[in-house]
Amino acid sequence: MKIKVTSPGRVNLIGEHTDYNGGYVLPCALDLTIDLFIEKKSNQSYVETDLGYSMSFNVNTAFKKSNKHWENYVLGVINELKQIKSELSNFSCSIKSTLPYGAGISSSSALVCGLIKGLSILNNLSLDNSEIINLSRNVEHNYIGLLGGIMDQFTILNAKKNTAILLDCEKLYSKFIKLEFKEYKLLLLDTNVKHNLANTEYNKRVSECNESLQIINRLCKKNYSNLSQVKRLDLSLSKEKLGETLYKRASYILDENQRVINSVEFLENRKLKEFGQLMYESHFGLKNYYEVSCKELDFLVEYSMNYEQILGSRMMGGGFGGCTLSLIKESLIDKYIREIKQEYFSKFKRKLNPIIANLNEGIQTSLN
Ligand code: GLA
Repeated sequence: MKIKVTSPGRVNLIGEHTDYNGGYVLPCALDLTIDLFIEKKSNQSYVETDLGYSMSFNVNTAFKKSNKHWENYVLGVINELKQIKSELSNFSCSIKSTLPYGAGISSSSALVCGLIKGLSILNNLSLDNSEIINLSRNVEHNYIGLLGGIMDQFTILNAKKNTAILLDCEKLYSKFIKLEFKEYKLLLLDTNVKHNLANTEYNKRVSECNESLQIINRLCKKNYSNLSQVKRLDLSLSKEKLGETLYKRASYILDENQRVINSVEFLENRKLKEFGQLMYESHFGLKNYYEVSCKELDFLVEYSMNYEQILGSRMMGGGFGGCTLSLIKESLIDKYIREIKQEYFSKFKRKLNPIIANLNEGIQTSLN
């Protein structure tokens, strides 16, 4: 039996860095995927990728963290699954991908969720989506060192074609929002500023948010369980105690949550211009208040403002590199790509990778 798992990347329309703050996000799955072909083997396991990496091991021997970053995704998955079933089958896994890595479109979660799903089938573990989400987050936290939220994993497992997921990351309540962009398309521009979020200030933002929450709770004698629940009045009362940096972080989170709610209303009423405006606001919040952007992302967003056929643009994902997401009139795309590629190259001496974001289903599996 050969198991094929097709695991997509994710696009987030709006609601950035809100997931680990118990807030709202509005993601979708891309039609670019990581495909894993998994088969049972008797003595030894073998994983190979189309990027030319490979590793072999026996699943039932204990292993430590590898000094090769990508191997820890695989080893982390196996270690987590062994806590559920101590004896796993050895396997071979061949990985093929159309999803660029390090571009902020969640190639790592696509790999981890895909591998967990495939090995769950191979070992008859019958894991449901929420168990896969939790295991995948454990891998990221414990083996990669990134204290990320669950937006990416939830999307990869649950997405539907041409639909966004309004997800409340605290209650895990979700609602599907059908998208209709008319003559507009979603365009990703990958800066080629590659990042491994674990080596950025991502975790620092997580702890800044936790610290802000503690200060607000102490000062206002409240028991908020996350920053997204904080009332504006309590934030204002805590302004001085928080100090400039923490106040900026916390107000960004409150603003961004509100933008997600407003975006859903605009998208449901096909008010694309108004939604686009919120994309810009989100970007400038991420740049000036949350401080997770970079000069390449800022340049792309600011350049897009010269065109009225571009309704909105913002950095997407964890930040510090990766890509921008823009809502652009289809008839402008070819011309715009030619122009922005040149401008970007002459400014940063880097190649820009455009990707038209078609929105597809979440993870798919097949057996043969
Ligand atoms: C990364 C993380 C997500 C989320 C985004 C920012 O993609 O994996 O959990 O925090 O950054 O919105």
